Amino acid sequence: MPEAIANIGVVGLAVMGSNLARNLASREGNTVAVFNRSRSKTDELLAAHPEAEFVPAFSYEEFAVALQRPRTAVIMVKAGAPTDAVIESLLEVFEPGDIIVDGGNALFTDTIRREKAVRETGVNFVGMGVSGGEEGALKGPSLMPGGSDESWITLGPILRSIAAVAEGEPCVTHVGHDGAGHFVKMVHNGIEYADMQLIAEAYDLIRRGTGKTPAEIADVFAEWNRGELESYLIEITAEVLRQVDAETGKPLVDVIVDEAGAKGTGAWTVQTALNLGTPVSGIAEATFARSLSSHREQRDVSGDLPSSAEPLRVEDVDVFIENVRLALYASKIVAYSQGFDEIRAGAAEYGWDINLGDIAKIWRGGCIIRAQFLNRITEAYAVDPDLAVLMTAPYFVEVHERAQGSWRRVVVDSATSGIPAPAFSSSLAYYDGLRAERLPAALIQGQRDFFGAHTYRRIDKPGSFHTLWSGDRSEVEAEDTH
Ligand code: 6PG
Repeated sequence: MPEAIANIGVVGLAVMGSNLARNLASREGNTVAVFNRSRSKTDELLAAHPEAEFVPAFSYEEFAVALQRPRTAVIMVKAGAPTDAVIESLLEVFEPGDIIVDGGNALFTDTIRREKAVRETGVNFVGMGVSGGEEGALKGPSLMPGGSDESWITLGPILRSIAAVAEGEPCVTHVGHDGAGHFVKMVHNGIEYADMQLIAEAYDLIRRGTGKTPAEIADVFAEWNRGELESYLIEITAEVLRQVDAETGKPLVDVIVDEAGAKGTGAWTVQTALNLGTPVSGIAEATFARSLSSHREQRDVSGDLPSSAEPLRVEDVDVFIENVRLALYASKIVAYSQGFDEIRAGAAEYGWDINLGDIAKIWRGGCIIRAQFLNRITEAYAVDPDLAVLMTAPYFVEVHERAQGSWRRVVVDSATSGIPAPAFSSSLAYYDGLRAERLPAALIQGQRDFFGAHTYRRIDKPGSFHTLWSGDRSEVEAEDTH
């Protein structure tokens, strides 16, 4: 029977859990207890990594005995029922003051529910976003823990010891209470979807507009990655486009079925934004673009739909590619601005005190959306923590000034040539909507009042009004009858 020598434990030793356990064990001051429902995974991990000096446990009781107080365990199992099952088992052997951390991609509302239920037992429950995939878990993820201030006292130093480091700072912060961590991770994933869709649209435009091969486009992305678009996703895009399929000798991207999968975090981001009344059009279009790509049965019968699209004529390839690069950057800024808007709206709705600048900081390293330009977002929120619209920060105004013409040109090119660019075009539409002095929403209010007597406000006096559309069409002042 192990004795209480471990300061942290990991439950769930699939790749992510094993890598996180290895990362923890590699840091000075950590002794890591490990447990997996099926013993073989534990045995495999110990055999493969004796240097980690793991403390193996083969029951939850043994796991609890191995842990120093306050016992702290990170759960790395599938979201949903498997996570609930592990929590239930840990609660049987943990005591008040101990800490259970859910490191999976749980839906933040589940985390709020779990945190409340577990807190009633005196045990702390922390929902923590872990970003960076398997490599990040091993070498340094971006970590987004929620949970109580009490749990952070113990967790903080441990998480700082394993997080990625950007500009000399660990990519971890106590995001906020209860579900705040998983909420922010969810938005991270939504931005990830938008970023990936924008990159895919840029690739498609260049491929179809210039006839360049994937390997040649990889060189374009590698060049972009040396500038303001430097980011993990741009970097790996060049790698994916360079990859040749061993079996056929063709570019791998040409033998992959063009139907994008999704585990659901993007959909959660959009559903939540709809409930919060926060437009995340770039993230939404990216999520729906994945759905469209997967509706093979509809695509197979729509190929002959009429189109007056003209083949994209590119006079100067370099100019065209620069236009696409600027359109990508301009649209990316919109997607991040919308993502931060959703975090702010979520914090207001759920009573979290989330520091947007800190979130930008911890996303600079370790996570999938890590990018050089997150330093610019960090700087923007450092100057004005209450920035209402990220895009109004001087740096982003300058970019949109510089990118404006290219952005519009690329959206026009995509429309006239029938190349789908939903994220580029919806981001521009959002940008123009935000800028517009008057929106056609006035007409919508009139329509709503006509058929539903939903009333409208006037620009020239306070109050709610209704027109007697089926009567003499005079206007009456009305109680606001939504
Ligand atoms: C990360 C990733 C990770 C997961 C993807 C799955 O931050 O490390 O985002 O959480 O691999 O979210 O993404 P899909 O929803 O595209 O399947």
